[in-house]
Amino acid sequence: MISLHRHWHLATIFPLLAVLAVVLQLVACSHKEGRAEVRVLTDRTESHLENLFKYYEQERPVKIAVNYVGDSLLTRLKTRPKEADLVVVKNADLLEIAKQKKLLRPFNSQRALGNVPLPFRDRERAYAITSFRARAIFYAKDRVSVKDLRSYSDLMLPKWKGRVCIRSGFHEYNVSWLSQMAVSKGLDQTEKFITGLADNLARPPKGADRDQVRALLEKRCDVAVANSYYMGVMRLRDDQKPWAEASDVFFPDQSGLGTYVIRSGAALTTASKNLKAATEVLDFLTDAFAQHYFSEALFEYPVKPGTPLAPINAELGKRQGIEGGAYKINLVSLKEAAKYRDKIIEILARVNFDRK
Ligand SMILES: [Fe+2]
Repeated sequence: MISLHRHWHLATIFPLLAVLAVVLQLVACSHKEGRAEVRVLTDRTESHLENLFKYYEQERPVKIAVNYVGDSLLTRLKTRPKEADLVVVKNADLLEIAKQKKLLRPFNSQRALGNVPLPFRDRERAYAITSFRARAIFYAKDRVSVKDLRSYSDLMLPKWKGRVCIRSGFHEYNVSWLSQMAVSKGLDQTEKFITGLADNLARPPKGADRDQVRALLEKRCDVAVANSYYMGVMRLRDDQKPWAEASDVFFPDQSGLGTYVIRSGAALTTASKNLKAATEVLDFLTDAFAQHYFSEALFEYPVKPGTPLAPINAELGKRQGIEGGAYKINLVSLKEAAKYRDKIIEILARVNFDRK
């Protein structure tokens, strides 16, 4: 497996790019032009994006000013819509909402259109999906077999009573997952599922996705809901490697509608002072280099056809008969999912999902 560090080690092109950057700067100065600035607003993890943007700044005479805002992204965009040229999100449901609130400007770029297949972009070009991950079931390898697992809906069966771990129901990942379920299965079925899942929890929801996988190792629960890419992420960290090794990833509903995915994406805002430069950063996120980075370094699934999966992702699902990591995806319309978002949050509150 290629590690993150080796991956960047391999990029010995960096010194050359630095030289190139200096040359480009000199050219820019000789034309008496400053570096164009692209202002990015994001809720993505800083360590996940900063290398990528640094690379871009070395490659192009552009400064990327990133504002990492965490969970307040949508509020921020609503209250200060002129603050950013480009938004980059970990859950594209937020882009759909931003689109409906008329906070986004359609992109007009043949490069992005060529890189991102139709199912991964908004039909009116308001946003593009840049990568995604499965909302998967992790299971304790020593206590659970793939034969015990089938569908998400099984998690409400009596056999899983007191054996399931999950983070707060109100976290973006779970709200997105359950909103998509409402589109696929209907709101009544989804409410039944939420209630049944809450009744089967081993403990009140707490921590982040990786904490649920850690709880498998600590025998606090036997199955956990978490995003697939954490398997790769945990394997790279010495302290978290044992969590990864005690568990495996199961892709639910492979004989049904498929596994739900959480999509990351990017969009231009209505502010975009520097439309050309901002569009080029959006293009860059869909181009081969960034797509390779999302896949290889972050263990996400790339959207650009032909981008290879990280070796670890190509192995995921083997025990359930999935070849080459190619699992069946239930790619629910984000427009449809957005209609259920508030209702899902209302149900989670009503059943006191977080047991607070
Ligand atoms: Fe995450």
